[in-house]
This record gives sequence, C-alpha cells and structure tokens, in this order.
Amino acid sequence: MDAPIPLPEGMTEISLGSAGLRVWQITTDACQALVSAQGAQLLAFQARGKAPLLWLSAQAAYAPGKAIRGGIPLCFPWFGPHPADPAKPAHGFARQRKWTLASAATTRDAIVLELQLAADAATRALWPHDFLASLRMSLGSTLSLQLSVTNTGHDDCLFGFAFHSYFPLADSREARVEGLEGSACIDQLRPGQKRQRQEGPVRFDGETDRIYLHTAGRCRLVDEARNHALSISAPDCRSVIAWNPGAAKTARLGDMAPEAWRGMACVESGNIEDDAVRLPAGATKAFTLAFEQEA
Ligand code: BG6
Repeated sequence: MDAPIPLPEGMTEISLGSAGLRVWQITTDACQALVSAQGAQLLAFQARGKAPLLWLSAQAAYAPGKAIRGGIPLCFPWFGPHPADPAKPAHGFARQRKWTLASAATTRDAIVLELQLAADAATRALWPHDFLASLRMSLGSTLSLQLSVTNTGHDDCLFGFAFHSYFPLADSREARVEGLEGSACIDQLRPGQKRQRQEGPVRFDGETDRIYLHTAGRCRLVDEARNHALSISAPDCRSVIAWNPGAAKTARLGDMAPEAWRGMACVESGNIEDDAVRLPAGATKAFTLAFEQEA
C-alpha cells in the first residue's frame, strides 16, 4: 500500500471507471489537469486561457492493467511489440502498472508531482533488470515532464521508451509536423522497406505510423485548420514517432469513436531502436519534455 502523502491545495483524488482507478484532479489559477496513478499518465492538461493541450478518447477504458487511450502514456522499457516475445505487453509494462505518488508540492507557479515505479517480481518476469523510474510533472501555466531512470541492478541494462503524447487537431489531414526533415524514417506500415530520409514536413494522410531516428530533439505540430502551433521540446530524446490510426485501424482499436482519428494525432518523443538507452549499473539518466503553445 502507498503511504498517503498530503496533497497540496488545488489537488484532489477522485476515481474513474467501475474499478475505481485512482486519478488526481488539479485545479489552480494556472491550469487544470488530470493524472492517473496507473501508468503515471497525464490524461488532460489545460493552461488558463489556452486550448486543451492533450487529446483523450471519449471512449477510453479506465480498467486495471489496460492502457488508457489518450493524454501522455509512457512506453517503457520497450516501444511497440517486444522484440523477442510478442506475448509480452506492447509498449512495455509501465503504462499498465500502478505508480506510487512519491511527492506533490506547490512551487511558485506550479504543482509538481513525482510518481515512481520500482522493479518487482512482475516486472522482472517481463524484463530482467532492477530499476527505479521516476516521472516528475510540473503543472503550471506551462507543462513539463521529466522521466528519470536509475539502474539499481548489478549489470548494464538497455531500454527504449517514449512519451506517447496524443494531441487534439481540428483535422488531422490538415496538420503537419516540422523539424524532422532529413531524419532517418522507418515506415511501420511497410515492414521490410529500407529506411528513408524524411523530405519536407510530415503529414497524416490516412493511417500513418512512422519512427524518426537521430532527430534534433524538437519539432513543431502545426494545426493548419485552427492556425495553431505547438512546439515540442525533448532535448534528451532522439526519436520521434508520428502516429494516426486512420479509419480502418480506429475501427479495430475499440476505445476510439469511429471518426475520432480525424481529431487527433500522436507525436511521441523518446529513445528507441538505434537511439535506445544503455544504462550502466548504478547510473541514472533523465529525459525532459516541454511544450509551448504558440496560440
Ligand atoms: C504507436 C505505434 O506509437 O502506438 C503504433 O507506433 C501503435 O504502431 C500505436 O499502433 C498504438 O498502440 P497501442 O498499443 O496503444 O494501441
């Protein structure tokens, strides 16, 4: 059981779904946010006077062990299907597990939360390493996240991860991602195809599922129909994943309304494939993600 920690003013605990998933609601002069203990997942964030930053499916399932469709799930310690064992959970186990709220405090202009997940028998059965993962969220007039991973074991470990951010768009077919020009691109819809080099901005023309490697750690999502842009800055993350399920995959997912793909896209920041992180025993690495809404 988590030792309950006192919550700062503006933060309350609620529950979602019939199983009562633990969620914190934050309402301050600066912002409104929703954070789920399962997955340490930020579900919603809206700074005062700004549009909602994140997309959350109206049909998301709030069930123990099931990834919630929207917000910023964390993929860890691997991305996508497990490379050797397809029976292991897609995108790793971090988004399915209950994290512990280690601290929650008010700073000058934000509520800062820290959630933690440590290795246990269940994680070791899926990934044979000891670790402590800590996700810090700063929820103020802007949003930033920092994932720190410590290797608490005796051997090196290698992991991949991604902040799987979902963003709302007026129309995904009228949106572009700038800043990935020249990066190596793996098109996940064309397995076996040679890596390409991205030319021009990335667009979501129907189902899109691409991994960009060795990027500069920043990009910009432009919602052309709303004339709105979002800068995504993740200086310690070399990989970006651009995903939109399109109509047919949306119908298979089961936790998105049939037309919902038109109103969202994922632009994910992490380190996967060649950019995966090798962490020596005893070492810690941290990865930050910050956003700037330009309108
Ligand atoms: C993206 C992957 O990051 O996540 C896609 O690139 C995947 O291949 C998508 O379909 C959603 O994954 P999930 O497990 O949340 O349905």
